Amino acid sequence: MIKIPGYLRPPAHTQPAYIDPRYASTVKRGPRQAPILLPHTISEITGPVFGWDDIKETDYDLTKQHEGEPLGERIIVTGRVVDEFGRPVRHTLVEVWQANAAGRYRHKVDQHHAPLDPNFTGCGRTITDADGCYKFVSIKPGAYPWKNHPNAWRPQHIHISLFGPSFCTRLVTQMYFPGDPLLDCDPMFLSIPSEAARRRLISALDWETTVPDQALGYRFDIVLRGRDATPREEPKGHP
Ligand SMILES: [Fe+2]
Repeated sequence: MIKIPGYLRPPAHTQPAYIDPRYASTVKRGPRQAPILLPHTISEITGPVFGWDDIKETDYDLTKQHEGEPLGERIIVTGRVVDEFGRPVRHTLVEVWQANAAGRYRHKVDQHHAPLDPNFTGCGRTITDADGCYKFVSIKPGAYPWKNHPNAWRPQHIHISLFGPSFCTRLVTQMYFPGDPLLDCDPMFLSIPSEAARRRLISALDWETTVPDQALGYRFDIVLRGRDATPREEPKGHP
């Protein structure tokens, strides 16, 4: 029988605790008992993860989903999705969702005092190319208040979901912007224990993708779990 390797588990001390009192809602929803580690099954490792036939080519551009253009500072977000061994994660689904420039989501739960933008829904998706690269065009999301503690404000951020090659590798994360003063007082950001891991969630201003007179570029590379097997070095001279 062929043994198909599963996927690596996250290294210790890189993931937030399930319960962090500074991030108030985790106290109610976090598990109080240690999770049971289940081995990956063959259907999780090899099964299909999503259908992307119906993804339109324009889905990556959140500024072109309505009659008019949304208000706000134009941004271009690009990056490369790789596994832990630096190999590109090709043809994988990347989805984003975000608040508008005023910091409001188009969602019935978000009723805080900020305007909706009729030309902005705030959702996009795309597929990585053969080199694992992706691109989104959008507007910079605004900071918004939340009810975690008195006068709590979330830093500007974009939510990102990636399925990767398998359900075992799905990652839901947030991308932040460099120099945001709210990062240092955001319990969600600070719940990540490692300073290095926190830094990896902050995008970098990117002059390579900045378009003069149009949009600032931000770079955000993403690493997904690799296979739980020793990577094989390519023989010398192999293309
Ligand atoms: Fe958010």
